[in-house]
Amino acid sequence: MADRSPTLGVCYYPEHWPRDMWEHDAARMVECGITVVRIGEFSWSRIEPSRDDFQFEWLDDAVEVLAKAGLNIVMGTPTATPPKWLVDEMPDMVAVDAQGNPRKFGSRRHYDFSHIGFRVESRRITEIFAKRYGEHPAIIAWQTDNEYGCHDTTMSYSDAARDGFRVWLAARYGTVDALNEAWGNIFWSMELASFEDAELPNLTVTEPNPAHVLDFRRYSSDQVVAFNREQVDIIRAHSPGRDVLHNFMQHYTEFDHFDVSVDLDVATWDSYPIGMLERHGRDAAWKNWYMRAGDPDSQAFHHDLYRACGRVKDRSQAGRMWVMEQQPGPVNWAPWNPDPHPGMVRLWTHEAIAHGAEVVSYFRWRQAPFAQEQFHAGLLRPDDTEDRGYDEAAQVALELADLPKAQTTRAKVALVFDYASIWATEIQPQGADYDGFTLALEWYSALRRQGQNIDIVRPGEALDGYSAVFVPHLLMVSDKASVTFENCDGHIVFGSRTGSRTEHHRIPDGLPPGPLRALIDIKINRVESLRPAHCHLVGNTGSLVKWAEQVEAGRGVDVIAETAEGHPARLRQGKVDYIAGWPDESLLDGIISDTLDRAGIERIETGDDLRVRDRGNLRTIVNYGPKPRDTAHLIPSGAKVLVGEATLGVAGVAIVELP
Ligand code: GAL
Repeated sequence: MADRSPTLGVCYYPEHWPRDMWEHDAARMVECGITVVRIGEFSWSRIEPSRDDFQFEWLDDAVEVLAKAGLNIVMGTPTATPPKWLVDEMPDMVAVDAQGNPRKFGSRRHYDFSHIGFRVESRRITEIFAKRYGEHPAIIAWQTDNEYGCHDTTMSYSDAARDGFRVWLAARYGTVDALNEAWGNIFWSMELASFEDAELPNLTVTEPNPAHVLDFRRYSSDQVVAFNREQVDIIRAHSPGRDVLHNFMQHYTEFDHFDVSVDLDVATWDSYPIGMLERHGRDAAWKNWYMRAGDPDSQAFHHDLYRACGRVKDRSQAGRMWVMEQQPGPVNWAPWNPDPHPGMVRLWTHEAIAHGAEVVSYFRWRQAPFAQEQFHAGLLRPDDTEDRGYDEAAQVALELADLPKAQTTRAKVALVFDYASIWATEIQPQGADYDGFTLALEWYSALRRQGQNIDIVRPGEALDGYSAVFVPHLLMVSDKASVTFENCDGHIVFGSRTGSRTEHHRIPDGLPPGPLRALIDIKINRVESLRPAHCHLVGNTGSLVKWAEQVEAGRGVDVIAETAEGHPARLRQGKVDYIAGWPDESLLDGIISDTLDRAGIERIETGDDLRVRDRGNLRTIVNYGPKPRDTAHLIPSGAKVLVGEATLGVAGVAIVELP
């Protein structure tokens, strides 16, 4: 698909519906304004009901029906749902949980990334699919598997994982002495005599060695990368010129998505704003306020994060990103599943496009009247009538047709995001409520409340051209990342715990912030986690909550703010700031706005519930709140309103052309 103007898609399961519905379905998709259809990703049992008994005719037929209607197809490899006969052939292909229980057949994702036999099967079925459909003109892209890691499946404590982990450790350390030294195994007499002694870090009496766990997390992440790469290589060999993509999840960090994305053309993700708010929202009041809309920053954060993933192969691009699954109405899997506000499906779609999505594809075409997801809405109801999501998708399609072309451009602000640092604080949080993902999202939200466009960047990605760089949570600062910070000519704000661990999860020589001392001459002498009711006031600007550090400042470092107890809360050397704790919202707002001002970046306070994002000269303004909001302050004089009005109703969207 050479033209990358934003368009709409849908996830479709022809195998769920009688053959005589397919033509009508395809025609109605086209009528709705949909141009892309994803199929196939859970089809294995119908394609190969028993070993080597291939029954592709129905899928061939479905491809032809969709192609004839003029739809572009994304074909999924079916490896997320291995059929029963395969599990019976290789009962040990399933993942094993941390308690040592094998996971069972009867839902999906019942495989272990480390299982060599299943890896062979994954390559076999991928090759069969790729050969059959690789050159079909309607196939524009391939999706590998489905949602790696979903349902807690990245890590497995199986024999296959243990054996693979030993090989991985031998390759990483060379000698077992080097491993003992790196992990600090002299502590508690944990020394190993050979790589064959290395076990998986579960079922230990008390906590396992953090360096051991961190390596196991790296190993598990690497298995996802390797599994994906095998499929990608096969697809590329048989399906030249097609995009290869995977659908990542929201609020999910168990493998390094940047590493997986190196092999992909597009990073796509599955956006379920209301389900995710239910699972991860801040508190009950927040969840009540946004229960029909989702967190006002979570979707944007993931758009920008996956745009960063979509850029790892080619830094000169803005980053290729799609939403592969967009929530179309109530979902079924959160603790509570409220109905989105009328208009929300339209809002989420426009917002995704504003952040650079090439395709926004709804999950699913028609609600299924059977099995696990009966309560999950689709664009159509099970009785084939149009549900609200259908109407909203159709409206977006019409609106898109009238919008001028626009390109995502580089932002002035960057936020550094690192997966391994999140693993490190999950392994040793040192405070029950310390969560690196939440911290990064809070900093991102604060930037959005100041109306910023944000590029999320992987540590080590060049930072030249950014006027302000925010680093909320980077425990392990690699040499490569240090160089980018040193070469950055913008302002940089580092959060607490930056540089506080080496790659082997040790305290760095000379104490934290380790390599950052080249940029700001400070030393962290003591840290404490704070109980929920406790905080350190920082003047009248806010407080440090959850986490606070006692920092010794060298000559040349200014203390910009102090806690009531007299400890530095914010320190500065030149253009580099260090924040000595977890800033609450008010302290953080001050830090962000002041940094933007010093960096000469224009900011606009969006006000409650409103958010903005610019793509080229198109500004999209959205209202996530349950009340109408005036947006006049977000529309510069001379701007032309293309969609919506200045006062946005609930779930309102305005798109304006900036002068
Ligand atoms: C996703 C998954 C889909 C469907 C959807 C329901 O996690 O990829 O297959 O289950 O959730 O919201």
